[in-house]
Amino acid sequence: MAACRYCRIIHEADPEYRVKKAHWDLKSDFPRCSWHWQFLCDDCKRAVSFNGMAWCPKTKRYYCIRCAPTHKKVKRSLWVWDYYYALWCNPCKQYHPALDWLEYNKKHPWHSDVRARRALKGLNRNKYLKPWVFIKWAPKNLQYPTQQEIQKRWDEGAEIWDAGYTKYGDAYRRNIFNPTLFPLIGNVKGKKILDAGCGAGYLCRLLAAKGAQVIGVDLSRKFIELARQYEKKKPLGIKYLCADLARISKLSTGFFDMVISVYVLCDVRNHDNAIKEIARVLKPNGRFIFLIEHPCFSWGAGGWSHVPLDSHRTEDWLFFKVDNYFKRRTEECQWGQLPVLLTFYRPLSDYFHSLKKHGFFVLDLIEPRPTQRSLRRRPREWNAENRVPPVLIIDAVRQK
Ligand SMILES: C[S@@+](CC[C@H](N)C(=O)[O-])C[C@H]1O[C@@H](n2cnc3c(N)ncnc32)[C@H](O)[C@@H]1O
Ligand SMILES: [Zn+2]
Ligand SMILES: [Zn+2]
Ligand SMILES: [Zn+2]
Repeated sequence: MAACRYCRIIHEADPEYRVKKAHWDLKSDFPRCSWHWQFLCDDCKRAVSFNGMAWCPKTKRYYCIRCAPTHKKVKRSLWVWDYYYALWCNPCKQYHPALDWLEYNKKHPWHSDVRARRALKGLNRNKYLKPWVFIKWAPKNLQYPTQQEIQKRWDEGAEIWDAGYTKYGDAYRRNIFNPTLFPLIGNVKGKKILDAGCGAGYLCRLLAAKGAQVIGVDLSRKFIELARQYEKKKPLGIKYLCADLARISKLSTGFFDMVISVYVLCDVRNHDNAIKEIARVLKPNGRFIFLIEHPCFSWGAGGWSHVPLDSHRTEDWLFFKVDNYFKRRTEECQWGQLPVLLTFYRPLSDYFHSLKKHGFFVLDLIEPRPTQRSLRRRPREWNAENRVPPVLIIDAVRQK
């Protein structure tokens, strides 16, 4: 039987360390023993690598790096590593170290409780790792999906998607691009704004609360239903329309001062018609600000190369895979618990050609980075986005 790869790495630094047999992820390049496998977070119930999981001796619970309100890197030497993660514990008002540091100091919960060790208490019993993000080229029969097929998947995912949002969107929006996007949008008081692909309308609400007159459009009936429920609960005068951006004939020509579209055009089947329609509904000199997945660093070729897949030590993330840059394609992508969604990959120049064709002048291209505050507060979480830009923003203006 294979040996645990983590045990072998540790053994190199400390020949006394006993290499254990691997029982988990046996078919991978990184088979693991139970001590070095994943544990289940008692807060979110998710399986997380031992190096991103802490133990609270007071509440007797495992909790993960995602659930901890904040975490930090603590510089110490343990075997081949020179730091461990410490995760803030709310009940104790202090940081607790991750399991690797506890094991090093013989303070792992399994050290003090032999019965728990025998029963593998707290361990994730799934034999294999399932990647958190899963993106691949869609099969042939889905390379040209119907609008209904695309819509059905967004409808199915809408509630789960929305559940991950605060007033300011999800963690990604708050830590990576809101701090760049909002100042760019600037003062919106009295402006007529279209939120193109509004989802459940978080941005519509933020803009309307600042005095803009907002219309939100989205392909998904379910998303529009959710957005209307928010509007009913707390009316801000936002109007919602369920439509394909490539066909928004219900919206009048030359009506809007600004169109904003956050993470949408890379999910739109016909981006060229959508941009044409956006140009039509904008006033001359109207502004078009949109954010898309960065086409140069699309996840379709495999994203980050890291072994093991679940490591929380981002130095294990080696480089970002890029390939088939010029190949336009439909991709299936699955994030966490969401259903498989369909997105559309195209090279960066496709967006620029459409902008030029439909009378836009590009003012700026911005590659947002996590804020210093986010990097300080959650160093592990946003480190990767500080190495390779995940999204880009284009700021354009419709010429007269
Ligand atoms: C990644 S979500 C972003 C939603 C929202 N802008 C946000 O940031 O929360 C992409 C959205 O694009 C919508 N969408 C996809 N294709 C569309 C189309 N052809 N016309 C309008 N909306 C579309 C989806 O229904 C989904 O709500
Ligand atoms: Zn091991
Ligand atoms: Zn958790
Ligand atoms: Zn605690």
